[in-house]
Amino acid sequence: MSQSGNRWGRLMVVLGHPGLTEMKRLEEDLSAGIWTLPSFPVVLVTAGENVMTAGAFHFYSFDPPSLMVGIMPDKYTHDLITEHGDFGINIPTVDQIQAVRICGAVSGRDVPDKFARAGLSPFDGLSIKSYLIKECPLNIECKVVHRLAYKGSHQWFVGEIKAVHRDDSYEPDQALMFWGRAYRKVGELLEGV
Ligand SMILES: Cc1cc2nc3c(=O)[nH]c(=O)nc-3n(C[C@H](O)[C@H](O)[C@H](O)COP(=O)(O)O)c2cc1C
Repeated sequence: MSQSGNRWGRLMVVLGHPGLTEMKRLEEDLSAGIWTLPSFPVVLVTAGENVMTAGAFHFYSFDPPSLMVGIMPDKYTHDLITEHGDFGINIPTVDQIQAVRICGAVSGRDVPDKFARAGLSPFDGLSIKSYLIKECPLNIECKVVHRLAYKGSHQWFVGEIKAVHRDDSYEPDQALMFWGRAYRKVGELLEGV
């Protein structure tokens, strides 16, 4: 940027940009736009015989039903999803926070049986080769249909849903939320739409 451009930018910060209210400040660190987001559900991703905690997770499409999960390329889970072409999304409840901590702290490269270490038991899916987790009330089998090619810290895998196993007693409000270095419960219901 030119000298005059810089000066203009500084002047805008001092005087305030016309689009900003007096109550708001312009964040210097753009990652504040990520770290100050509200919480997301935290999931246990199963790939092959391994399990990993992930907060980078969202649904992708209703039709075809699909989900997406962001895995950093250095994770063992990344290699396993690539190798198997499928993965499981397992929803832990607030009571399973200790298993979530363990699966997010140790790598399957160092601890071959992370399931046992976390007190979890595997079961076989119908459509995928990767294990699912018995103790989680919701298990979703996904086949990888796309990988986002754009650069970034996480490799996003889009998985088409092939089977869903749901415990009758499961309510989505039992799920565990996580973001900004904090685990939380799902909040209060305000109104249904
Ligand atoms: C709450 C929490 C959320 C996490 N979210 C992600 C994530 O979305 N993507 C990721 O690649 N790693 C995430 N991690 C880190 C991995 O779970 C962790 O590095 C794990 O040990 C990787 O296991 P693996 O090497 O067996 O795949 C998270 C960890 C925690 C505790």
